[in-house]
Amino acid sequence: MAVLQILTVPDPVLRQKAKQVKVIGPSVKKLIKNMCETLHDAPGVGLAAPQVGSSLRVIVISVPEEEEDIVLVNPEIVKTKGERICQEGCLSVPGYIGEVIRAEKVTAKGKNAGGKEIRIRAEGLLAEALEHEIDHLNGVLYIDKLDSPDKLHKLQPSDMVDEEDTVEI
Ligand code: NI
Repeated sequence: MAVLQILTVPDPVLRQKAKQVKVIGPSVKKLIKNMCETLHDAPGVGLAAPQVGSSLRVIVISVPEEEEDIVLVNPEIVKTKGERICQEGCLSVPGYIGEVIRAEKVTAKGKNAGGKEIRIRAEGLLAEALEHEIDHLNGVLYIDKLDSPDKLHKLQPSDMVDEEDTVEI
């Protein structure tokens, strides 16, 4: 296993539409393991494969309320409900946070690392992370979703301590 380098804007891979995974073979399994290790090494709760230079539809999420890492291959959002404002950051846009509108509840489906079809019903941080990471697979960053440029702020050192809901995903 290895900690991979996380690409940051304006790396072009972040803007590509990632490809569907056809077979979860050894190379994809290795990618998943390395992504989990990279995520645990980083100050974030989620990572999409394009962020480590693989333009494939794979995401990993690690949130405090879930004991195990969530791995989704070829993930899709199947349903959303409600709206809320989130203070969001991204490991590929270091040093900034922005205000974006996300769904209150999200249902997503995809395959786990073992190739089994799974469905996740989420709210809170997990719902936000699912939307954020699946956006990455479509070349979309949260900074594209701001209502106006003044919704983007430079992260102050105090934000890291004070604002529990400010996370980089
Ligand atoms: Ni991100």
